[in-house]
Parts: sequence; C-alpha cells; structure tokens
Amino acid sequence: MINAYRSSIMHFLDDPRDRSENAYEFFEDGLLIIEDGRVKQLGDAETLLKTLPPEVLVTHYPNAIITPGFIDTHIHYPQTEMIAAYGEQLLEWLETYTFPTEKKFEDTHYARAIAERFLNELLRAGTTTALVFGTVHKSSVEAFFEACENRNLRMVCGKVLMDRNAPSELTDTAESGYTDSKSLIEKWHNRGRLGYAVTPRFSPTSTAEQLKKAGDLLQEFPDVYMHTHLSENTQEVEWVKSLFPECSNYLDTYDQAGLLGRRSVFAHCVHLEDEEWQRLSETKSNIAFCATSNLFLGSGLFDLHKAHAQNIQVGIGTDVGAGTSFSILQTLNEAYKVLQLRGDKLSPFESFYLATLGGAKALDMDNDIGNFEAGKEADFIVLDKACTPLMEFRLQQCKSLFETLYVFAMLGDDRAIQATYAAGKLVHKR
Ligand code: GUN
Ligand code: ZN
Repeated sequence: MINAYRSSIMHFLDDPRDRSENAYEFFEDGLLIIEDGRVKQLGDAETLLKTLPPEVLVTHYPNAIITPGFIDTHIHYPQTEMIAAYGEQLLEWLETYTFPTEKKFEDTHYARAIAERFLNELLRAGTTTALVFGTVHKSSVEAFFEACENRNLRMVCGKVLMDRNAPSELTDTAESGYTDSKSLIEKWHNRGRLGYAVTPRFSPTSTAEQLKKAGDLLQEFPDVYMHTHLSENTQEVEWVKSLFPECSNYLDTYDQAGLLGRRSVFAHCVHLEDEEWQRLSETKSNIAFCATSNLFLGSGLFDLHKAHAQNIQVGIGTDVGAGTSFSILQTLNEAYKVLQLRGDKLSPFESFYLATLGGAKALDMDNDIGNFEAGKEADFIVLDKACTPLMEFRLQQCKSLFETLYVFAMLGDDRAIQATYAAGKLVHKR
C-alpha cells in the first residue's frame, strides 16, 4: 500500500555541528512517499508526482512543514497526572507527590487508563517515540506496552527497580526486581516496535546488589536498554556519596554494576565531575537533556557544550511529571534559554536535530527512525505554520528556514502539531 504526502519537508542526515552545509535536506514543495509503513522515497513534488501510479492517494498539507516525529529520551508515564506539582526540589518532590502517585499503579485498570491518556498527550505533542519509566509494578509496564502495541508505536519502557529508601508499597527486592524484569524482557523486548529498558530509578533507591542484578540482565540480554537518573540535584549527589562510600563518584555506582554503554541513557547529568563526563564518553553512554524539568525542580543548567566536546550523544527529554510540558517544542524553547544563561547558543538546526535524528542516535535507533531515509519507519509530523494568529503573523516575517524553525521552537507547542503519523498511519489529527 502506497501513500504520499505533499508539503514542505525537512529532515537531518547528520548533526549540523559536524556538517553545517548539508546536514539536512529541505524541500520547499516536497513529496514523502510511504509504502507499507516505511519511507519509500523523498524528493521534489514536481518530479516525484510524475512517477506515482495514478491510484496513489496524495495528501496535501500546504502552509506546513513535515518533519520526522519527535523523540523524547526521558519521560515517566505514571507521572502524567501530577505534572505541575508545587513548590519542591527533587527529593521532597519525590516524597510529597511522586511516590503517592506511583502507588496507584498497583491497580492495572488505572495503569491502562493513564497509559492511554499519556499516549494521547505524546501524539498531540508530535512525539512518536519515547524512553519511558513505568512504576515498580510489573503490570504497569504490561499496561503501557499493550497500549503502545495497539497503536503500533515505537516505544521503550521498563519496570522501576527500587529496593530501599522508598515506601514499602513501592519496593521490590534485588531478586524480584531481576525476575520481574527478566520476564518482561522475554515477553516484550523486540516484540513489534517495542523495546525494554532495565530501569533502576536512581542509586539512592537501589542497593549495590540490585544494581548488580540489573547489570546481570544487560549481560544476558545485550540489546536491552538501561535507563536511569544521574546527578540531577546537589543534595541527591551528596546522598549518593554517603550511601556508596566505596564508589568514586555517582556514575561509578552504575559503572561498578556494568550499567554503562551505547544503549544506556542517563537523565539530567547536571552536576557531573570531570571523571564522569570522561567515563560516559568512553563507554558511549547517552544523556537525556531535560530542560523544563531541570528548571522546574531548580536542579541546574545542563552543559550541552561540554557533552558535545566529549562527543557524548544527547537527546531531548521532557521528564514529565517534573518536566512541565509534553511538547518537545516547548522543551527546546527552555533548552535554548538554559544555554543562554550559560552564555552559550542553541541553533534551531541543532534543536531540531536533537529532537529527531539526535534522539534516535541516543536511543541507538537511527537505523529505524529519526529521518526519511528510504526504508526507515514512517513516523512523521505536520507542523502547521498557521497554528495560531501570532505564529502565522510571525512566520510571515521569516526569511529563512533557520528563522522559521527557531520560531517554531520558541512559540510552538501541541497547537503546532497538525497531524502525527506512526508507521505511516495517522495517529493524531488536531
Ligand atoms: N530521580 C529519581 N526519581 C526521579 C523522578 O521520578 N523524576 C526526576 N526528575 N528525577 C528522579
Ligand atoms: Zn525522570
């Protein structure tokens, strides 16, 4: 089955920092041809339309830009209902709001309902792939994967591992965490478009024994992901040092358990020491830059340029519910401001790269998604240039793609997403 989409179309072939001239392709009047859920061809509409068999349906989005779907490299689906909870920094926020909310996910019906609502929000925001925390409950992950499978989305999720410093209703043990994760991996990892992430919440809530068992899972299943938090808040960093006196730094608590690598994603990384930057780089580990969350919880200003200098792959994470928006556009807006406060810049090309191909690389999925190379899965979005009166007016003044993308990143949110497609199928229409 072939379908075609006509619009302005842009995607990245490379990081614009490495290849500033032709890191991206832009077709003012482009055509994206999809066959059986994958990209067949991308090019100029005028040329490609002539080659299409007459029966192919061409959907036209004038005054819009089609880009690959956004990729959120760090988010918590159970925290959907507690987004925007007042007043606390990380550790108090977890005790006051997060743990009480996550207890509700013992109820599978509840988990299913929230999973559906969460996916609706992601797709409204133009996010087609995410790396997602469940709760400690195995069934929370079952509920999430079932919901994703029904919509044929490319998603990664994992059961939270926590065997200390958390309410008893939310703790597992090193052994049960291992066994439950293993059975989830066997059932869900690489099933359709789904992937599993071994998910220790963060070092304060896992014993060294539990982290070690998480490492055992990565040995047994080398292509599963590892997803956790790292060095988000200064009190947290101090706490980790007191809990793990045998470790040389926070990252070392994970390193000693064998949790670093090209399929490992560490959220935040705001207060890293030089050795930790070095080690993340050596092991090809990835970072989720969570700008709205880091500002909301008062955690600090992530040093994106340091990550670049160390050649560490970075993706954008909303980190809902500590993040204050599901929208990657809004997250890019705040990322830009974080860099401003550091005296750095974030170009709109770099922003959109991070949100698409960069995120795909951070998740080691750039063979499957992230741009419109032939054969890739057809996850894409339609950015509406007239989504609000102000946006329409402001974009009329733009003289370049650079400016246009910048305005989308500053003024855009879910209203800018006219449509979202996953594996070639329409999954959200505004
Ligand atoms: N560190 C440990 N757990 C969490 C969480 O749920 N959210 C954030 N932002 N940081 C954490
Ligand atoms: Zn988080």
